[in-house]
Amino acid sequence: MTATLFTGIGELVTCDPSLGDGSALGVLRDAALVTEDGLVAWVGAASGASAADERVECGGACVVPGFVDSHTHLVFAGERSEEFVARMAGEPYTGGGIATTVAATRAATAEGLRDGARLRSMEMTSQGTTTIEAKSGYGLTVEDERRLLEVAKELTGETTFLGAHAVPPEFVSDRAAYLDLVCGEMLDECAPLARWVDVFCDVGAFDEQETRRVLAAGIASGLLPRLHGNQLAHGPGARVAAESRAASIDHCNHLTDEDVASLRDAGVVATLLPPADFCTRAPYADARRLLDAGVTVAIATDCNPGTSYVTSMGFCIALAVREMRMTPAEALWAATAGGAAALWRDDIGHLSPGASADFAILDAPSFAHLAYRVGSNIVARVFRRGSQVA
Ligand code: NIG
Ligand code: FE
Repeated sequence: MTATLFTGIGELVTCDPSLGDGSALGVLRDAALVTEDGLVAWVGAASGASAADERVECGGACVVPGFVDSHTHLVFAGERSEEFVARMAGEPYTGGGIATTVAATRAATAEGLRDGARLRSMEMTSQGTTTIEAKSGYGLTVEDERRLLEVAKELTGETTFLGAHAVPPEFVSDRAAYLDLVCGEMLDECAPLARWVDVFCDVGAFDEQETRRVLAAGIASGLLPRLHGNQLAHGPGARVAAESRAASIDHCNHLTDEDVASLRDAGVVATLLPPADFCTRAPYADARRLLDAGVTVAIATDCNPGTSYVTSMGFCIALAVREMRMTPAEALWAATAGGAAALWRDDIGHLSPGASADFAILDAPSFAHLAYRVGSNIVARVFRRGSQVA
């Protein structure tokens, strides 16, 4: 019931275009925000704010919606720095290293998995992330996939079943049997723990027919579809995402004009993962082409030990601006409202009255500093549902 007034906000980014300057970011200057019962109760000019039970003075700082990291592989064991070093020396990324993490993850205790995931989620929170999506996909047995989702579910409601991440070594000579398992017993065990179903649809991963089969089985079990696709080469991922009305297609490094149009027309979010491109030396996804075509774009970390051992949405924003030619405003929108769109959530990613009071107070006067001061964590304080979490 306690109402808290956050005042002295030099720049308040609401991501509500009906507020403030009328831009997509809905920016108010010299602003205040009131939270009550975990929600945003009021936003407006500081001079017009009424008194509340508690008062936080922001000293001219910028306040932004909490970041929505809509694509992570949070729960895993081990690390693959040798693979990273080899890539920096010219080796390509193929996805073959997934098996290394699967072996380490299967060998880990539940406590070990929980401790690692919790540490990474705290690292994310301290850098301004207030919502994390977390996938399974490094267990690839019924028991191990279930275990990963149990750990993920302790940390977030946005859990994703990714049994179709790779065919595990014990099934390489019979991938059809693995697909049967994923769509049968594994799905039965995992669906109660997940909100989403995802497939790695790419060369060397799962093909169109396999992808459609897993998505259909997941949907029939009550899960919502999303995809990894078009990362390593052009393929059917974007088309399948559009035809399946998936929430999002993630990576998007190789798209045709038809793919771009079909994503726009189907309202599928294109989630770009700039740290994965950075860490695999892949050509960056063409954000400008997607934005200029009217596709909704999100950015996320893809946090995983293979392609992106990265927890910072600030780094994603900096890469999106420097390497993908998004404006700082487009990048911040993609990291907040875009991530929310990719998770079919309208209660987060913006600071309109009624939204969840998830926000970060920056140690900076403007959001441009997120890209400008690359490499520093300029997030001073983080609130989730109105409570300080970092
Ligand atoms: O999103 N591309 C597929 N999956 C992960 C990487 C998995 C790994 O290499 O461990 C990704 O980049
Ligand atoms: Fe991923």
